[in-house]
Amino acid sequence: MTAQLIDGKLIAQQVRDEVAANIAKRTAAGKSKPTLAAVLVGERVDSATYVRAKGKACEELGMGSVSRHLPADISQEDLEKVIKDLNADKSVNGILVQLPLPSHLDEERVLQLISIEKDVDGFSPLNIGRLAQKGREPLFVPCTPFGCIYLLEQAGVKIEGANAVVLGRSNIVGMPAALLLIGKNATVTVCHSRTKDLANVIRQADIIIAAIGKMEMVRGDWIKPGAAVIDVGINSKPDATKKSGYRLVGDVNFDEAKEVAGFITPVPGGVGPMTIAMLMKNTLRAAEIQDP
Ligand code: GUN
Repeated sequence: MTAQLIDGKLIAQQVRDEVAANIAKRTAAGKSKPTLAAVLVGERVDSATYVRAKGKACEELGMGSVSRHLPADISQEDLEKVIKDLNADKSVNGILVQLPLPSHLDEERVLQLISIEKDVDGFSPLNIGRLAQKGREPLFVPCTPFGCIYLLEQAGVKIEGANAVVLGRSNIVGMPAALLLIGKNATVTVCHSRTKDLANVIRQADIIIAAIGKMEMVRGDWIKPGAAVIDVGINSKPDATKKSGYRLVGDVNFDEAKEVAGFITPVPGGVGPMTIAMLMKNTLRAAEIQDP
């Protein structure tokens, strides 16, 4: 193995410790606990797991949490009412609506309704719009891309002037990751399912952020020697040696890539733990903005 492993679990724990220390300081000074509201619509098992993990993190860091679990067939109007009530609730500092929503709901309208100063996921059009414009600052940066950039910076990877390739253009990861890298003066290429000669585009990259959701798609010989590889993928691969019958792998073929890359994040234990850590950081920031 030639690549340096970027330990997301350790770096996420450091972020969480720092957030917990700041919360303890705030509460000791008589300020209210930062509080996160999570809105879950329907019965998706993965979404329920994420929301539970977010609530657990709040508890571990001394943060307050409330959850609103709503039926899958809730009307747009009733969901909007829940958001409006959370916007008006002074004891709630951050609001997150777990995505995806059931298909009959208008996600854009829901996200637009979240008060910008409570938008700790950074998905409201106002926050994304600011991220996309030069000289403007969003109040909150979406948690997973924020975690990716944080890992690069902690590993000492130079972003300015680097050729960065983002694989995937989702609203949640790929697109905001590309905007963040542009803001840090990287030269950014965004690749997706229609990109021609993908391997050769990726071969130019000093930094690769893989968020396309295709198991082990990026091969070792696609990677420029010494490149930094951030793997956002979480895919279940059948593995008879595991009790569960599967193991988690990323969008990058780790065994091949680790022999070529300069830096690489493992799956699991790379980007995954960073998402919740950055959400906690954003929620603390929300409380600091609302109650300085
Ligand atoms: N669904 C997948 N990732 C995320 C995330 O970071 N935030 C929310 N709210 N939903 C998601």
